[in-house]
Amino acid sequence: NSYEYIQVTEPRPGVAQVTLNRPRALNALCTPLITELNTALAALNASPTISAIVLTGSAKAFAAGADIKEMAPLTFSTAYTTSFIESWSQLTSALKKPLIAAVSGHALGGGCELALMSDILYCTTTANFGQPEIKLGTIPGAGGSQRLTRAVGKSRAMELILTGRSFSGEEAERWGVAARAFPSHEALMEGALATAETIAGYSRVAVQAAKEVVNKSQDLPLRDGVEFERRVFHSLFGSRDQKIGMKAFAEKKKAEWSHE
Ligand code: HXC
Repeated sequence: NSYEYIQVTEPRPGVAQVTLNRPRALNALCTPLITELNTALAALNASPTISAIVLTGSAKAFAAGADIKEMAPLTFSTAYTTSFIESWSQLTSALKKPLIAAVSGHALGGGCELALMSDILYCTTTANFGQPEIKLGTIPGAGGSQRLTRAVGKSRAMELILTGRSFSGEEAERWGVAARAFPSHEALMEGALATAETIAGYSRVAVQAAKEVVNKSQDLPLRDGVEFERRVFHSLFGSRDQKIGMKAFAEKKKAEWSHE
């Protein structure tokens, strides 16, 4: 592990775990941490043996936000000319493999936004989500106003972003922000790794296609999205694994994927 602010492990076959590891600042997302995260995710994306990625923090904090001490002295012109925060949008946009965020403790500001960038969000019931930027005289800057609004609807997102109030993991699950909420950090990690392992047991070609078509639903009108899905579905008739999967079903055998 050559990183200062994150750890990368392979706890299950085909599954990578990236752990945010800046405990003294509750995993505040300073620029060097984001750079490391970009580097690690790009490497995992390119790895021929990794099929799914779990992103987590500690039991106390997933991430308490962008680094306020780093942001405090920034001016408009510096932020603008250095495209401050723009590198965050590379974190997940180029990632073809499923990313599961496992959120315990604080997921505030940029931490909440990072969790919202994941493909599947799991949390503990006591996780502490929120967009408190308004309390600092600013607004979400890494997609929170867009992704949270898509996840919970306009009225609720407006209330959360304008008041800065936190919401719990239990609420996140009830509102559909989180796919599942678990009673403890240990149960959360077990659940996240088990889901990642399940996904890693499928054809990587099919998994990548499934992720791609679901993500298109966030950008395309319904007719275009359905048409895009059908085209990708057609294209999978050209994959070896689709033949392997259907043949295995007919022969009542377990599919041995070629990932081709
Ligand atoms: C820098 C942070 C930090 C942050 C915590 N720390 N959050 N440093 N940036 N976002 C540091 C504290 O300064 C402190 O360092 C140490 O972590 C422990 O934090 P405490 O406050 O002592 O812990 P606690 O009392 O348990 O309170 C936890 C907390 C609180 C409620 C999460 O730390 C907090 O409110 N943090 C800020 C949350 C926030 O506003 N996030 C949004 C940031 S704006 P020292 O050195 O004092 O021990 C944002 C904009 C995103 O994210 C826009 C684009 C990405």
